[in-house]
Amino acid sequence: MIIANADGCAPYEVSRSSVDVVRAEGAYVYDADDRSYLDLSNAFGSIMLGHNDPAVVSAVLATVRSGVPAGASLGLQHRLAERITADLGGDLKVAFFKTGTAATMAAAAAARRATGRRLIVSCGYHGYDPMWEFTPPGRPNEEGVLHVYHLPELLDQALAEHADEVAAVIISPDYIHVSPEYIADLFARCRRAGVVTIADEVKHGYRMRQGASINGAGAQADVYTYAKGISNGWPVSCVAGDERIMEPLAEFVSTLTFEAPGYAAAVATLDRLAELDAQAQLRIDGGRFVDRAAELLRARDLPIELAGTGAAFQFVCAPEVQEVLLEQALAERLILEPSDQQYPSASFRGEVVDDALGRLDRALTAMVAERPDLVGLKLTDLDRINAAFSQMDGLPGRPAGWSLQDCVDYATEQV
Ligand SMILES: Cc1ncc(COP(=O)(O)O)c(C=O)c1O
Repeated sequence: MIIANADGCAPYEVSRSSVDVVRAEGAYVYDADDRSYLDLSNAFGSIMLGHNDPAVVSAVLATVRSGVPAGASLGLQHRLAERITADLGGDLKVAFFKTGTAATMAAAAAARRATGRRLIVSCGYHGYDPMWEFTPPGRPNEEGVLHVYHLPELLDQALAEHADEVAAVIISPDYIHVSPEYIADLFARCRRAGVVTIADEVKHGYRMRQGASINGAGAQADVYTYAKGISNGWPVSCVAGDERIMEPLAEFVSTLTFEAPGYAAAVATLDRLAELDAQAQLRIDGGRFVDRAAELLRARDLPIELAGTGAAFQFVCAPEVQEVLLEQALAERLILEPSDQQYPSASFRGEVVDDALGRLDRALTAMVAERPDLVGLKLTDLDRINAAFSQMDGLPGRPAGWSLQDCVDYATEQV
């Protein structure tokens, strides 16, 4: 493969096993023979409305046809920034980027410059850059980032031990293995310690609710980052926060910061999400899939469980079981994201949900036929912890019977 970073295309392996995805619409992608693949990956959750959404496509085409050059999109950026700050409900500033990684790095840099401190305490994944490299708990990486793996005790410890060094705590909220209250509690601990907080909403912003997911649980942050949810697959990300912290970002600009079609896509996406009440719809339709799929799994007595909500859920199982599940799902042309959460789009409704359940049902039948030895096996607590760690890059609390040192040893082994 000539593409050096092609492994990141994992959910669309179909295209690597000589099936070219040639078009996409709503919840489906299609190959050259016009066979449909039901997509639960949705470009890593960046397709919130569905593929090829008409409102987004026409907004993009109109902007392309207008010929507005890269570098002249302040009008569109302004509309988008107004929308984002209104949804956050504050007098905030917004800086735009292209990727989630760029946004989280900018947010951390802004907090560092605003506080004059260097240490960033972190929960979860924030991008591919070496800045975010995971190192064992207790030891900051070379870029001055200390990971605490979503554990309240480790967070408190870091805040106490490094009280005068912490520029910010950045937390990627997650709702598949922990509750909104659990996440709100992490933010509350930071508030009590008086440190700057960054909510990395790249994954769940605009997916759980219109705006920041943590606000739904009553939590607030000083700075927010968005990416996946805001532009239906177009490359737009942003940092939004208090003016005092955002000021250092004034010169964080690159050649294509002001490219226009992405912003047109984002404005259309956020309008359409609000119009559809897409998040409420995802809770209901995605929720129906999660409930029924869990029943199908129980009926087969396979060692697989479903965790999460209709907006984002995970097939929880051991890696060797997942391998069989992915293969059989693909045979039914159901595209699943490996080792991670599934992200339905707002096109995942009604008959599409029935279709997904039918495909899953047939995949599970084939799984039982091919691997009868899996039937009756039980998922272990360690399988659940491993699945959570690979999905959220953290621990879903301190597992029963584990000491804090056990958690530290476990996280150390994983990184
Ligand atoms: C919470 C979170 N932050 C940051 C990122 C990085 O975003 P990107 O892949 O757009 O660089 C991701 C990507 O999955 C993410 O889930």
